[in-house]
Amino acid sequence: MAKSKSIYTCTECGGQAVKWQGQCPHCTAWNTLVETVAETPAAASRFSAVAGSGKLQRLNEVEAREESRLPTGIAEFDRVLGGGLMHGAVVLIGGDPGIGKSTLLLQALCTMGGGHKALYVSGEESAQQIALRARRLALDASALQLLAEINLEKIQALLQSEKPVVAVIDSIQTVYSEALQSAPGSVAQVRECAAQLTRLAKASGITMIFVGHVTKEGALAGPRVLEHIVDTVLYFEGDTHSSFRLIRACKNRFGAVNELGVFAMTEKGLKGVSNPSALFLSQHAEQVAGSCVMVTQEGTRPLLVEIQALVDEAHAANPRRLGVGLEQNRLALLLAVLHRHAGIACFDQDVFINAVGGMKIVEPAADLAVLMAIVSSLTNRPLPTKLVVFGEVGLAGEVRPVQRGQERLREAAKLGFTHALIPDANKPRQPIPGLQVIAVRRIADAVARMRDGLSA
Ligand code: TYD
Ligand code: MG
Repeated sequence: MAKSKSIYTCTECGGQAVKWQGQCPHCTAWNTLVETVAETPAAASRFSAVAGSGKLQRLNEVEAREESRLPTGIAEFDRVLGGGLMHGAVVLIGGDPGIGKSTLLLQALCTMGGGHKALYVSGEESAQQIALRARRLALDASALQLLAEINLEKIQALLQSEKPVVAVIDSIQTVYSEALQSAPGSVAQVRECAAQLTRLAKASGITMIFVGHVTKEGALAGPRVLEHIVDTVLYFEGDTHSSFRLIRACKNRFGAVNELGVFAMTEKGLKGVSNPSALFLSQHAEQVAGSCVMVTQEGTRPLLVEIQALVDEAHAANPRRLGVGLEQNRLALLLAVLHRHAGIACFDQDVFINAVGGMKIVEPAADLAVLMAIVSSLTNRPLPTKLVVFGEVGLAGEVRPVQRGQERLREAAKLGFTHALIPDANKPRQPIPGLQVIAVRRIADAVARMRDGLSA
């Protein structure tokens, strides 16, 4: 096979150079040149064949059948995918090493049912290792084919001849193309391999699932374009020390994002947890200061999560602010609001906050719960155990409503909570049986109500 020529392209201006240089000769930006395959006329024609002939069509005349979905047989996985895999879709799954990506995909391919031909391409584990795992998990692997290969051209050829319904590439960082000289896992290689495989998926209707590594910061390793070319991006989350694992969709062209799949890692592989709302509560025997339960909404699903705060006298010039599972900058902002609008100062205190169970909370509905936990820890006064709190706190000290307040309250009532401290605008029109609602408009009100022992 003739080697394609590679060329260096600037990621900033798109300018090209034949040799690598530290500085782009076109826009003078530093360190922006990455190796890419020089577009040959043959490659260009291959691309246009996939994109479709350039004929104008009216949108309502485009033939678009509602394609049936391919259920994976794992209910929680289907939920994040929006009801199953679409034909020809490309899904990217990212997550920390050892969190269970390979396990989940192996299980999904084996349980997919319907005798669909599935192919598992592994560049990380040998065929024996995968077979051993499948045997240990007691999976029926009769319809699953294995390929231990990292050469993109060989994988492409095999996909074209075998035409499986679903193919898993574990992982996209290990695959390399002969057309490029850079090492597997480099930006150029990952981008080129993902683009080639995506093109193949669209042309042939093979559903592809890429496993992606994540960087230390938790983002998918490799070029950001990876997230743009695929249809669905899923993240595996969870604390490797606890057995619970979450899968979150952060982009989905075929369904809602922010849906959450919840799994438990057992000795028999990953098991779906269909009713996870009480998972993220640590069961305290007695009331403890610095703990506050909130209701977070993940897609269509309310979840109760315990927020813990520890406020301790600072011994360094700069007091520490640390958030685990919650945003650190948001914490600094909330502490400023607490000082300015409720008169509670923490500038001589270290403040640590944590969402229990390895949960990551990004929605601002956690604000009020974070502040209540902090005030509780600072004053060493526990909050009632049967209390839930949610609400966004604004810079003017106001407590703002959150989405789907009713559903959150109903879930809390279902789990036996008796009191709810919530934004005034989320107050339910009809009372919820068994739940006493304390509605507040400002952060100062919330702190005052807490001091009075939170009677309704
Ligand atoms: P794996 O799927 O190999 O992780 P990834 O592909 O994301 O790197 O997950 C391996 C981890 O899961 C490993 O730490 C052991 C654990 N595990 C179980 O606890 N039970 C099981 O049945 C299996 C297969 C793995
Ligand atoms: Mg793996």
